Amino acid sequence: MTERSPGTQIRSEFPIFDSAKGKYPLAFLDSAASSQKPQCVIGRLSNYLAHEHANIHRGAYQLSVGATENYEEARRSIERFIGAEEDSVIFTRGTTESINLVSYSLSEYFEEGDVILLSVLEHHSNIVPWQLLAQRKKLHLHYVDCDDYGSLHVDAVAQAIKKHKPKLVAITQQSNALGTVVDSAAIGEICAAHDILFLVDGAQGVAHMDRDLKDMKLDFYAFSGHKLYGPTGIGGLYVSPKALTLLTPFMGGGDMIETVSLEGSTFAEGIQRFEAGTPPIAEAIALGEAVAFVESIGRTRIHDHEQELFQYAWDQLSNLPGIRLLGPHSSGGVQQSILSFLYYDLHPHDIATIADSYNVQFRAGHHCAMPLMKRLGLAATSRISFGVYSTREDVDQLKDALQGAKKIFKIED
Ligand code: ALA
Repeated sequence: MTERSPGTQIRSEFPIFDSAKGKYPLAFLDSAASSQKPQCVIGRLSNYLAHEHANIHRGAYQLSVGATENYEEARRSIERFIGAEEDSVIFTRGTTESINLVSYSLSEYFEEGDVILLSVLEHHSNIVPWQLLAQRKKLHLHYVDCDDYGSLHVDAVAQAIKKHKPKLVAITQQSNALGTVVDSAAIGEICAAHDILFLVDGAQGVAHMDRDLKDMKLDFYAFSGHKLYGPTGIGGLYVSPKALTLLTPFMGGGDMIETVSLEGSTFAEGIQRFEAGTPPIAEAIALGEAVAFVESIGRTRIHDHEQELFQYAWDQLSNLPGIRLLGPHSSGGVQQSILSFLYYDLHPHDIATIADSYNVQFRAGHHCAMPLMKRLGLAATSRISFGVYSTREDVDQLKDALQGAKKIFKIED
């Protein structure tokens, strides 16, 4: 592939931007919820389904052997992409399933009274599975607080570890609601020094950060494919060699066993024991293609592009009367690719609905982070987020939409 630039140039590889006809071009500002898909991923998915499909790990015939090779090759590509060793990534349906897998498979590791440490920044998918586990096993959950801007300070995590002595720390790499970037590497060092298991929710980080797992000492890394330009229904869970020895299978079925008799079963080695049943083969292969797409542009270039756009949006929007930009950027904290805001006293759902009539599409609400909203005294926010195809024009279109909302609500400054 020839070298291509993020922004306007790469947009031509995303059919969605051609299909949206109307008065305004599509300004898609919701990549944090799910990214759009490049033609190469769509083509790979379609070609696999049309010409290559058979079940994997089960057939001696050509189609099955080919599908198995492509599925395993996709796993290799993803492992290389996140900086993980071979045979360390379990395919799942996404971040939520990955975290649930850990919470079930680690059941035996916990004893009554043990502590799990989370943070108030977490998405519900990194809270609810632990609450369910805590109920089942009578564990305690503690939450590290953020500051009033939404930064999570490593000192606060260190203090909470000292005070509560958790057996597991599970903290996001990047807040989906505010864009706060967490220093996962520093937290990983502390956990490793105290022999505490460390899970990183990489749902946002995997698409927006240019760090990989070699920079972090962690035991679990959960991520989704659909935020990484891949299809829905596919994601992964990295498990460190040490952590793998602590997990017991939570889902039984074909493909995860070694032998089955009427008296009992033994399980396949390694990560294989956590992939029961027919997996999302087509989606995994297409995710491998998505990773190749990202690499063909360069993770660092995408990261820099999104950073530049974030700063542009911050500067442009902060000039508007009636706006309150949220997140750690205003206090010198690290925030990236995601920007939540309030506009006068308008409800974010009203703003998003009016913006939609300008073909500016973004998410409004609590962003599946209700504890964080409560902590910051917010009911809901408008949230824009960037991807490789985002441009300054998207931000300018948002500004027009906000002026439009002001007119509709007859707001005078
Ligand atoms: N977790 C996704 C979001 O933040 C759905 O919008």
